[in-house]
Amino acid sequence: MKPVKIGVLGLGTVGGGTVNVLKRNAKEISRRAGREIIITRASARDLTLDRLCDTQGITLSTYPYDVINDPEIDIILELIGGTDLAKELVLQAIANGKHVVTANKALICLHGNEIFAAANKVNVMIAYEAAVAGGIPIIKAIREGLSGNQINWIAGIINGTGNFILTEMRDKGREFADALREAQALGYAEANPTFDVEGIDAGHKLMILASIAFGIPLQFENVYTEGITKITREDIEYATNLGYSIKHLGIARKTSKGIELRVHPTLIPQRRLIANVDGVMNAVLVHADAVGPTLYYGAGAGSEATASAVVADVVDVARALTLHSKNRVPHLAFQEDAIADLHILPQDEVETAYYLRLMVEDKPGALAQITHIFAEQNISIEAVLQKEAPEEQTILPLIMLTQKTIEREMNAAIAAIENLSSVTGQVTRIRLETLG
Ligand code: NDP
Ligand code: HSE
Repeated sequence: MKPVKIGVLGLGTVGGGTVNVLKRNAKEISRRAGREIIITRASARDLTLDRLCDTQGITLSTYPYDVINDPEIDIILELIGGTDLAKELVLQAIANGKHVVTANKALICLHGNEIFAAANKVNVMIAYEAAVAGGIPIIKAIREGLSGNQINWIAGIINGTGNFILTEMRDKGREFADALREAQALGYAEANPTFDVEGIDAGHKLMILASIAFGIPLQFENVYTEGITKITREDIEYATNLGYSIKHLGIARKTSKGIELRVHPTLIPQRRLIANVDGVMNAVLVHADAVGPTLYYGAGAGSEATASAVVADVVDVARALTLHSKNRVPHLAFQEDAIADLHILPQDEVETAYYLRLMVEDKPGALAQITHIFAEQNISIEAVLQKEAPEEQTILPLIMLTQKTIEREMNAAIAAIENLSSVTGQVTRIRLETLG
């Protein structure tokens, strides 16, 4: 059979790793795909840079259209990132009749509906395993492995940079900015690292997971996102003392009132496996009706770990080249005409438990005022922790864990507490999930 010809856009962390894996494991890969897979062209901005990979035998260009307009190329690997040029290139590749493999979650999350529709029209495939949780084959697991189930909820650590920073802060007492710099040097972070630390990247990935789990359209505007920039070493320490880990979680849950789509720091009981996922590792816990809970773990970012997912997609596409789109696994798991616009629950209607940290004046009656506000909002307190302080200290941290409550009621309680003369500054609030 004729070899499958690949054109690579981008030779950075992921592109470089992909070239290396495709070359190093060429024999094993072609035994799996049933034909040889060769990279014939690639593009990058600056061809004078030292590369991670050996580009011998590959025609290089600074103009990505040289790659997508080459009539010999069957599959384009979009490994540039961003959403403007990447979208243009992917749509042009589709118009040219080429299949596309991408690691670009921003692109799939924000423009996937349009890209998949364009691809279906001309019978080409768009594969995006590397877009979520790096090397973990989570798209394949949900889209194919769990296709007999109704999925109840997904909770995942799906940003390697964020998990790396939180772990370094907890284990080595490192400063946030210092740990972020290392994540960037290791090639984990996005070109704009705000995406990692403000929860945007995890939000993109969560939206993709929710879409293939529940058969809903991609709709990033309905994902609640909160990052890790406000997490302090103090909160990490209090959480640890109370038996919890703080992890940045993406949660998608189907409830009787609607679908929850939210990304935020979360306290998780230390006894849960997912609470012990550290560094750049990611994990996704999927709860489905027939199988129950399943957990997927692996490197969430990095050159060859991500390349592993890109190459797996290349093999899948090579195997399915001769199939009509109707006989392939649908892009978003559900058949195109079965995607349903289900109600997304606004964040203030979501129900969770909470960890709260308040700075409170050490005087009689202060705690009673706070518990009175909680009672007014129907919020039950699970635990209270106040450390003894030196005599001269009159403002003390008060840590409270609450039972599950509706976010709107918690917002009202926090606003009332912040108005008390005995409370100084803002209340720190971190959501808590037992994941049972
Ligand atoms: P890098 O910045 O390391 O690489 C980007 C590559 O694209 C570089 O080779 C760059 O060229 C090239 N490029 C950028 N702009 C242009 C342009 N205008 N024309 C031609 N080439 C261009 O990014 P990553 O490899 O880290 O990320 C690539 C994609 O993979 C992103 O979508 C990212 O979100 C995703 N991803 C990244 C992971 C990771 O661990 N890093 C993991 C999973 C997904 P040059 O080298 O000359 O500058
Ligand atoms: N910046 C991303 C992360 C890359 O740190 O998880 C993998 O998608």
